[in-house]
Amino acid sequence: MTVSIAMAGKGGTGKTSVACLIIRHLLRHGGAPVLAVDADPAANLGLGLGLDVGKTVGQVLAGFNENKLLIPPGLSKEASLNIRLNETIVESRDVDLVTMGRGEGAGCYCFPNHVLKSFIDRLLPNYRHLVMDNEAGLEHLSRGTTESVDDLIIMSNHSVKGVRTVGTIVGLVGELKLNVRRKWVVLNQCPAEVDPLVAAELDRLGIGIDATIPEDRLVIEFDWHRRSLLEMPGDSLAVEAVSVLMDKIGSIRFNEVEI
Ligand SMILES: Nc1ncnc2c1ncn2[C@@H]1O[C@H](COP(=O)(O)OP(=O)(O)OP(=O)(O)O)[C@@H](O)[C@H]1O
Ligand SMILES: [Mg+2]
Repeated sequence: MTVSIAMAGKGGTGKTSVACLIIRHLLRHGGAPVLAVDADPAANLGLGLGLDVGKTVGQVLAGFNENKLLIPPGLSKEASLNIRLNETIVESRDVDLVTMGRGEGAGCYCFPNHVLKSFIDRLLPNYRHLVMDNEAGLEHLSRGTTESVDDLIIMSNHSVKGVRTVGTIVGLVGELKLNVRRKWVVLNQCPAEVDPLVAAELDRLGIGIDATIPEDRLVIEFDWHRRSLLEMPGDSLAVEAVSVLMDKIGSIRFNEVEI
């Protein structure tokens, strides 16, 4: 079974960077092949992974909605759409990337959304892991893109607002009865000691922290130089912290299998 990991959290809290570092970890610890899905309309997972994004799923669907898709004789509309969707997959050695992009053009996207889900579902058996980067906020939760995941990584920065958003996300996951097996709260760009005011807010909301990731100058430099975060050195602070998180996630999963 493919293990699916999805990112959530307030804007700018490190969802995309940490998704890349999670993929980096998986690739080096027997977790390949990985399917990376960029479900943020402001797509930049490709950049973090050092992969060039060609056509996005949104662009293909827009062509479909506007009947601009040339359908070869003998092919159904759906089969033809699936061929085009396959062309959005950017392949590399151990990780493939699908970029959703924006919903473009006019028209209703309900049918394409359903097609999209079946597209991803069809791809999944080929991969050991699915890592989905999401847009900031709660949209993807209520839209059902994050409907069924094994591990939901809820990111926050070291701020009361970030932590409150974690609370809202945890609440929404329960309210919408989303099929999320495990939730992990991660404080990014976090100092060695969590500030008492941030800690008090976490306490008030009854939220425990599962991992902290320190500010890492290398993450910033890799961004500046448009370098793939997959190439981050193993002894970087952020890589080490993500390793601790992944070991925690892995050991819990392992224990579940044991039971
Ligand atoms: N641990 C870290 N140390 C230093 N810089 C970091 C760290 N994590 C993320 N950053 C930087 O913070 C910025 C925001 O990170 P990122 O784009 O990953 O956040 P995001 O949650 O995906 O944002 P958005 O909501 O806009 O998609 C980036 O410039 C990134 O390089
Ligand atoms: Mg992002």
